[in-house]
Amino acid sequence: MKKEELIKLAKGKDAVLSVLADNFDAEVLSKCNRLKIIANCAVGYDNIDVESATKNNICVTNVGDVLTETVADLAFGLLIASARRIIEGDKIMRERKYKGWQPLFLLGQDVYQKTLGIFGLGRIGYAVARRAVNGFQMKVLYYDLKRNLKAEKELGIQFKKKEEILKEADFITLHLPLTEKTKYFIGEKELSMMKRNACLINTARGAVINEKALIKALKEKRIFAAALDVFEKEPKVSKKLLKLKNIVLTPHIGSATIETRKKMAMTAAQNIIDFFDGKKPKNVINESVLSD
Ligand code: GLV
Repeated sequence: MKKEELIKLAKGKDAVLSVLADNFDAEVLSKCNRLKIIANCAVGYDNIDVESATKNNICVTNVGDVLTETVADLAFGLLIASARRIIEGDKIMRERKYKGWQPLFLLGQDVYQKTLGIFGLGRIGYAVARRAVNGFQMKVLYYDLKRNLKAEKELGIQFKKKEEILKEADFITLHLPLTEKTKYFIGEKELSMMKRNACLINTARGAVINEKALIKALKEKRIFAAALDVFEKEPKVSKKLLKLKNIVLTPHIGSATIETRKKMAMTAAQNIIDFFDGKKPKNVINESVLSD
């Protein structure tokens, strides 16, 4: 939606149930003078200027943990698809280019018992770690702002510095929110530290990776492959990305299952209902608004 359309729709309303593409920046928020709550139908909320919302006394909610396992499934699906070149294989079949079994045809990377690096051990990062450890006996290294001793004990995973993970991991998966600090968390320097056989998976937010640097690294085969569900300038996708073979691309479908999208919509709606019933919604981002 264009800014003017969003303002036109949200102006004069008490509540908005928003989606990720609705960009509630300071200007939009300043024009929605009746607005009391924005219930984002997503777990991420970088589409909302929470600081401005708080200043304008607007409560912001997300959908909490209802999509955790669903996104973790997709991250793992992308991990396997990039390691085993599933999409390249599918293309070959459809183009009727398959000429019969060959010993060195479409060779990928093993996943079983390899090393997985996780950046961001929130709920989704943890759910990916559980899959890796319990399902694939992987060695899991993670980095987060906070160490999670409980998770380390439960899953036998290890906390490491960013550089160490980049150097050691065969697979790297990103589960960080997009903030000023995490923008371009993976850039040229980081890509140059990764192993040549490494696959990079992103189901978080596009701008966590410097796409230009990734394109260069993939082109020069400095890493084995990447799999992206999110893009720097969504919904636009760089033509250069589309031309690469060693990348799997999906259109931001991390939480896109029938069950989960239903739960997300219901949760966002319930947050609005609770707010107007005078109850504290379950997934408030800016609690200070409620205590005023
Ligand atoms: C999807 O990307 C979400 O944040 O829910």
